[in-house]
This record gives sequence, C-alpha cells and structure tokens, in this order.
Amino acid sequence: MDVGAWLRGLGLGQYEGAFRENEIESDVLPELTESDLEKLGLPLGPRKRILKAIASLGRADKPSGTPGLARPSTEDAAERRQLTVMFCDLAGSTALSARLDPEDMRQVIRAYQDACSGVIARYDGFIAKFMGDGILAYFGFPRAHEDDAERAVRAGLEIACVVGALQTRATGKLQVRIGIATGLVVVGDLVGSGAAQEQAVVGDTPNLAARLQALAEPDSVVVAAATRRLIGDRFRLRDLGRHTVKGLAEPVEAWIAEGVASSESRFEAANAARLTGFVGREAESELLRERQRRAWQGEGQIALISGEAGIGKSRFSTWLAEQIAEEPHTRLRYQCSPFHRDSALHPFVQQLERAAQIAPDESSESKLDKLEAILRLATARTQEVVPLIASLLSIPWGSRYPPLGLAPAQQRRQTLSALLDQMEGLARQNPVLMLFEDAHWADATSLELLNLAIERVRRLPVLLLITFRPEFEAPWKGLPDVATVLLGRLDHSQAELMVERVTGGRKLPAEVMTQIVAKTDGVPLFVEELTKNVLESGLLIEDGQRYRLDGPLPPLAIPSTLQDSLMARLDRLGTVKEIAQIGATMGREFNYALLNAVVGRDEASLQAALAQLVEAELLFPAGAPPDARYSFKHALVQDTAYESLLKSRRQVLHQRIAHTIEERFPALAEAEPEVVALHYSRAGLADQACLYYERAGDRAAARSAYAEAVAHFEAALAEARQLPPGEDRNRHELAVLLKYGPAILIFRGVQSPEVEQVYQRAYEIAEASHDEHKLFKALWGLWFCANMNRRTGTARDRADQLVALGRRSEDEALFLEAIHCRWSTAFFRGDIARLLADGREGIRHYDLERHSRLGAEFGGHDPGVCAYTVLGLGLAQFGNPREAKDLLDRGVALGEMLKHPTSLAFACMNAMTAYQIIGDRNAVSRLAQRMFEVADRFNLPPQRSIATFMSGWTSACGDDLAGIKIILDLTDALERLQSQLRARSQKPAASKTKTRAGHDGQHHSSRKTKAKVNLRRKRK
Ligand SMILES: Nc1ncnc2c1ncn2[C@@H]1O[C@H](COP(=O)(O)OP(=O)(O)OP(=O)(O)O)[C@@H](O)[C@H]1O
Ligand SMILES: [Mg+2]
Repeated sequence: MDVGAWLRGLGLGQYEGAFRENEIESDVLPELTESDLEKLGLPLGPRKRILKAIASLGRADKPSGTPGLARPSTEDAAERRQLTVMFCDLAGSTALSARLDPEDMRQVIRAYQDACSGVIARYDGFIAKFMGDGILAYFGFPRAHEDDAERAVRAGLEIACVVGALQTRATGKLQVRIGIATGLVVVGDLVGSGAAQEQAVVGDTPNLAARLQALAEPDSVVVAAATRRLIGDRFRLRDLGRHTVKGLAEPVEAWIAEGVASSESRFEAANAARLTGFVGREAESELLRERQRRAWQGEGQIALISGEAGIGKSRFSTWLAEQIAEEPHTRLRYQCSPFHRDSALHPFVQQLERAAQIAPDESSESKLDKLEAILRLATARTQEVVPLIASLLSIPWGSRYPPLGLAPAQQRRQTLSALLDQMEGLARQNPVLMLFEDAHWADATSLELLNLAIERVRRLPVLLLITFRPEFEAPWKGLPDVATVLLGRLDHSQAELMVERVTGGRKLPAEVMTQIVAKTDGVPLFVEELTKNVLESGLLIEDGQRYRLDGPLPPLAIPSTLQDSLMARLDRLGTVKEIAQIGATMGREFNYALLNAVVGRDEASLQAALAQLVEAELLFPAGAPPDARYSFKHALVQDTAYESLLKSRRQVLHQRIAHTIEERFPALAEAEPEVVALHYSRAGLADQACLYYERAGDRAAARSAYAEAVAHFEAALAEARQLPPGEDRNRHELAVLLKYGPAILIFRGVQSPEVEQVYQRAYEIAEASHDEHKLFKALWGLWFCANMNRRTGTARDRADQLVALGRRSEDEALFLEAIHCRWSTAFFRGDIARLLADGREGIRHYDLERHSRLGAEFGGHDPGVCAYTVLGLGLAQFGNPREAKDLLDRGVALGEMLKHPTSLAFACMNAMTAYQIIGDRNAVSRLAQRMFEVADRFNLPPQRSIATFMSGWTSACGDDLAGIKIILDLTDALERLQSQLRARSQKPAASKTKTRAGHDGQHHSSRKTKAKVNLRRKRK
C-alpha cells in the first residue's frame, strides 16, 4: 500500500513528508502508537484520525477476520454495481507508429500511460486494462465514491490536458479521445491468468464507453446520458445529439464535457434545475434567526450545522440566507471540495476568483485589475495585500508590484492575516453572512484560517455558518457563542409534504406514497430522488390532479443518483460488507442468533464485524448478543447491500437462511411460516415456498385473520404456478385453492365472482387429476356460491351432481353432505316434497360418531342438526307443528351436545323461524336468548344480529314498538355491511398485508410479479 496516497485519502496529505522522512511503510502502520505520532509532530486531531484509520485498515485488510461464508468460487466475489467506465485512446496512434521508430513509439506510449495512470489514481479510479494505446478504467470499483461519475469526467478533462503537455519523441502535441458511460454491471470476476488477468466487467457500459470514445474528436471527453444525469451541472457540456452506435438498438445521446462549471457551491451545481419548496426545520431556523439578529448587532455568532449526507445542510443554510436576503449584508460563501483536500486555502481561492469574476484564460493584467477592484472594497492597503493574494491565486504580477521577498512561513502568516483583514474590512461596512460548506473536506490551512476567523468574528457583525457531515470532529463545539444544529430526519408528514412538492402538488396513489416514505427514512435527498425516479419510471399515468398506477406497483428501484453514495457507505467497510449483505438478505431487521447460525463460524469476529457496522452507523442495535437485534438505519442501504449481491448468490443465501430457520429455529418457523416462505421463494424453491405460504394461510385463517390468510394463499398459489406443469404442480395448486376458496368467501363475501372462479379452477384441476374427494369439495364450493346467491336452478343441478358424485365415491359421509346440499336448495326453492324426503334420508344416514366433523369441513354447520331443524321447518310450513316441534327440539339438543357453536346457533335460527310460523312467541324468545349467549361467548357478530332481530320480532309482536326499531336498525346495518363487502371484493388483498421478514415485499422476481399480475387480473 502507498502510505502517501493513504494519507492523502484521509485528507492528511500534509504529513506525507513526515512519514516519508521517518521511513514509515505500510507494514509498520499497525505498530504506530499515539506517542509515535506525537513525536512526528502531529496535532491531536490528525493523531486520532490516523489511529482510527489504522484500526479500520487492520479490519479491512484481514480477510481471515471476516466471519463470512466460505466462498466456494471466485464467481461469488463478483458483484452487481453501478460503474462509470472510461475508455481513453491516443488519437492518431496508427499514423504515429508508422512514422516513429518502435523504440521511440514505446517511449511515447509509456509516457502517455504513466500520465493517464497518475490522473486516474488521483481520482481513485481503477485501471482495468492497457490495450496498446487504449486504457480501460473504472470509477466505482473496487470502492464506490458518492461522486464517481464526476471523478471520471474530471479525470478525463485532466488527462486531455496532461497528455497534451507531454514532451515526447513524437513530433507535435499528443491528443486523446475519451468516452465515459455509466450503468449497472457485474464486476469482480477475475478472468484470464498471469499478466493477462483482469477484472472483467459484464454489461453494456464498457461497450458504450468504447463507442463514445470513437465518436469523440481528438482532445474531447464524450459522456453518455446516464453519466450526464449524475454530474448535474457540475461541468460545461455541449450536446452532441443522438448517435447510432454499434451493438445498441436505439440511438444514444451524447455530450462533450468542455470544462468544470464555475458555481458558487456543490449544492448549486447539483440543484441548478429546480428546488423543492422548503419543508420543516422550524425550531432550527428560529434558533439561527435569533443568532443572526445578535450577530447583526455586532456580537459575532458561529453556528455549526451538521448531519448526514443529503439531510439538508446546504439547503437549510441557503434557505436561511434567502430569509435575510432583504436586509443589507454581504454574503461570502466558501466551498470545500473532496478533490482539493490537499490544496491549501482552496475554498478561499475559489471564493476570491468568483467574487472578482476572474476567468482562467484571462490575461494576468486583467486578472490583477479585477483582483485589485475587489480587494479595494475592504482595504486601502492594496500595495501590500494584492501581491499576497495574487500569489495565492497564482497570478503573476511582473513589475506591477515589487516582489514579496518573504520566507514561506512569513508569507503564509501574512496571507492568512490579509484574508482575515479582508473579511473584517467588509464587516465594518455591512453585516456579513459567511457560509463555510463541507468542512469535512477542508484542507488543513483553511481549517487554521477558520480557527482564526472564529476568534476574530466575535467582535464583528458576522454570522458564520459551518456545515459538515458527522464524521468531522468539529474542534469548535462547546465554545461560547457557538451554536450547534444537528439536522435530523424529516417526520412522515414532512416527507409526504416534500413528495407532494416534487410532484408539483399532483397526488400520488396511496401505496406509492407509502412506499416512498417507508424507503426514504426522512432523508430529503432520498425523498427527492426516489420520487423523481418514480415519476420518470412510467409506472404512473397523469390523471387530472392526480397520478394513477399503470399496473401493479413493483418494489421501487434505487435511483441511479443514489447508487454510488449508498454503495460507498458499504465499500468503506471493507470485507465486513459481507455481513451487511447477509443481514440485508435476512431483512431490514435481523437477529443475531439467526445471523450467527447462517454465517456459521467464529462468534468473536462476527461480533466485531457487527460492532463495526454499528459504529459506521449502518445498523442500529437493540440488546446485546446473543439476544441482539439489528436494523438497517436506512432502507435504501439495505436494498443496496442486497442488490449488490449476484442473483445466484442471493438465492444461495436465501436457501441457507430458510434451512437454518427450519432446522435450528423451529419455533420461529412455526410462528412465522411466511418468513420461511419468503426465503424459499427468493431461493427459487417454489414447492417449499408454496408449502410454507400455505401454512401461513392456515395459521391466519385459524386466527380469523382473513385478509392475511387471503394474501398468504395467493402467494402460495403464485408459487405453485411457478412449478412446471404436472402432477406436483396440480397437487399444490389444488390443495391451496380449496383453502383459498373458504378464506376469500369470508373475506370478500359470497357475492364476489372470484369465489366461484376459484372453485371453478379447483374443479378443473381435480377433474383432470381424478381426485374425487377434492372434486367433491370443489363442486361443493360451486354449489354453495349458486345456492347463496339464490341461483337456485344452478344450485339444484350442482346438488344433483354432488349426489351422483357422493354415490359414486362410495363414501357415505360425502353422500350425506350431498343430500344436505340438495335439501338446502330445495328449501330455498320451496320444494317442500324434496326437502321432506331428503331431510328424512339425512336423519336416517346421520351418525354422530362419523359425521359430526363434516360441519367444520362444509358450510360451517352440522348436517345432522340441519336435517332435524330443516325438516322441522318444512313440517311447520306443511302444517304439522307437533312433529315439527319434536324435530326442532332434537335438532337444538344435538347442537348443544356437539359443542359446536355455529351448529347450535344454526339450529336456533331454523327453530326460531319454524316457531314464528307455528306462532310460538315464547319459544322464539327462549331460543333468541340462547343464541345471544352463544354469540356473545364465541364472538359471532352475525349470529348475534339474528338473535337481536328475532328478539325484536318477539317484542314487536307484543305491541312493543321498540322491537320494530330494532328490526329497522338491523336492516340498515345489514345494508351497510353488504356495501362494505362489495367494496372489499373490489380491492386486492395482497397490498394490505405486509410480509413479516421485513423485506416489505420487495425483490420479487419478475416471474413472480407476473404471477401476481395474473392473479390480480383474474380478480378484476
Ligand atoms: N427542508 C427541506 N425542504 C425541501 N427540500 C430539502 C430540504 N432539505 C433538503 N432538501 C433537498 O434535499 C436535497 C439534499 O439536500 P442538501 O444538498 O442540502 O443536503 P446536504 O446535507 O447538504 O448533503 P451533503 O452532505 O451531500 O452536502 C437537496 O435537493 C435539497 O434541496
Ligand atoms: Mg451539502
């Protein structure tokens, strides 16, 4: 490892010399102690930063320290990533090599390659391959950076300059053509061997970069559309229009990057297009407005604004500035840059150049004129100050001023004090708002100047705002007159408000809004980018003042604008990232015990890895191992970790998780079969997934949680339909359909046409697979739908079919159930003769031992109870009250004996109707009383309503008008209930149910999504 580069990477490049002088190489880094570093002359802050970095180096560089799964092949090391690919080629090289002696050509190529390598390394790019005079480089691998696309373009521009300035044996200036493209690739597979070994990239992106390179004019950098989206307005771009390129079906758009755009800040460069209306932050702005008022009175104030990337630090400070725009003041904005952590005073240099409007290609004379003009605004001592600042800005002044003649340390001190005087001079004229942005990237000299400024500001009308991310240890915390504002996440309603601002007030479908809010965790940048992504995705159709979905809502993809920064958070972890990936496969939340069992070795290093993930603020812990649970701080980080895994590896992990739960955590498998189902589903094991979803459905149905039951059975069906056509698939599908039928019957109501479709499908499968028992059940379902919807002709035909089937099956229980159906339909058809004949046959056949289970299996009441009471009801209608009463009493007594509440309630209901006909009000009242008791004890609201209705009737018969009111109220309630059921039958259930594994139903394979779509279509 190059220690110098490492130090620069930490923003501590100024100590490179000290390390070099003391011959500190990478092998002794882990041995360094704090006192060693002190001896090298490092102040406290850098000492701590270096020690922290050394500690994480140890962790990241030690593969044995990672308690990851054994990797069976190098294929597993590959990842799915967004990558920016650069192709660079020396223009005119064929002609050049024809002209030059081969040895001279070799020298030219060497010089060119070295120049390019240097620039690419400085932007932390990765050279994948030299191909003669071609260079293939990646930005975003092996480590992602939040600004990889920007790095690639900056590197491209610099390569063009650096190569152009090379002095070689070639006559004339060397020129390059550069193409840059960004996209999803698989990278990390090592292909080839020996010197030819390379990190291969699979995907369209390298091809596109190569084609764009061929399009480029000498000395130009051409970028693709995806790259252009990521770089925002950070560069001056010229549109090249659309071009047809080999290998791609559609013409592609391309731009030439001509140079870095000059903008006041990173924030403006990224957000030039449009800002979302400002949301929230009331308390924070109240506090800072108060500070600003004090500052304007001459009591200078400093405010530290910190928070994670994208939380809104820049936006908040810009917004504050807008609030005071009307009050006379001077605004100074200093922007630190990740690319200039080693350039002394970079933010101050940039601010001066911008303020003076100095262009890079202007003459020195004109630059000096402009510089003098702006310095004169604050000082009269231009003779002394101008050369200092001109030197800082690298503007030669010839004989216009005398040479400085100062020792470097002296010049440095005087420059700092000139800059401070400049600020003070301005503040003496007008209050000053000073905004120092992204202090975490500040160079050491700027920080020193800032320290001095903080001292000076206190006596001046200055409000100094300093923004930074949490990794920066601000040394000014706790000083008097220093306010600290920690920006946190937006709450749900603020996030919703932001979404609405992004959509321009047009309402999103509720499920889209819910997913956006859930996935973005109140981080404004995520909210904006995800919402924009959804709007551009084609999922939504504009419909007046709202959007509607153009199909089922898939899990929302991670916006490409966030991919790099999310991946960078994971890459920073080195090999510990793998634990995050396994955790992400388990869900947004996962527990230690299961993770440990899945990972399967070395608890100490697993715990160390988790501690590192917690320290890096990727995970929130709850409790301590072995009972600890962890949750991803950001849903999008979890998604990124998961999606970076190859699909094949995800499947392996899901299978392993499912197996582990089955074998080691049977209680969990029992309590949450849907979790096991989800893992099997993602492992691509549809039969196992189907079984577990079926179990989940059974459990939900047993708890009367029908919405969940319906969703689980639908998921089970979708899995069954993934299986290849054949017996196995039929068996799974049929078993689930026959459970799904009763569940949607209750959930959506018997009127819902879907119920009949489900039974129809079950009927077809059962018929094809010659399973008579299941065929009977399916046909029974079809009969039930017809009977309950009073299509009594169809019901009669189906009952006849059932009787024939029952007879043929030689299963007398089925036969009894079949005639049960027939007498029921006869009752609704007023076919008393049939009713009496079948009812009597039912009583003859009924055997308590063998048939009392039928109630639970078919229709919810016992066939014996039904036979007695329906026959009683028929006889009451037929004018035979004596025999009727006897049968009714026996039916009710049987109901009592069975201890089956719905059978007993059913007996009471039939008996009450019969006693109404007979005219025995007391019997009705007594039975209603009994029904109340049963309904209350077993929580049966429909049965309770019937009891209420009947007791209302008995009161009404006794001239009590309150009874009539009860009946009318119930009729209203019934109508309301029916309309609720109708509404429910139009709503898909799946969207209501959340899966418990914490994946929020995402990552469904497209096959499965299609299955769901079909299911939904069917429902419509
Ligand atoms: N309160 C807010 N209301 C509306 N939009 C906001 C708000 N806060 C942030 N945003 C938007 O969210 C995005 C990210 O905000 P911003 O750039 O200010 O974050 P940041 O904290 O400065 O991030 P970084 O650390 O990367 O500089 C911007 O587009 C910004 O306009
Ligand atoms: Mg910012």
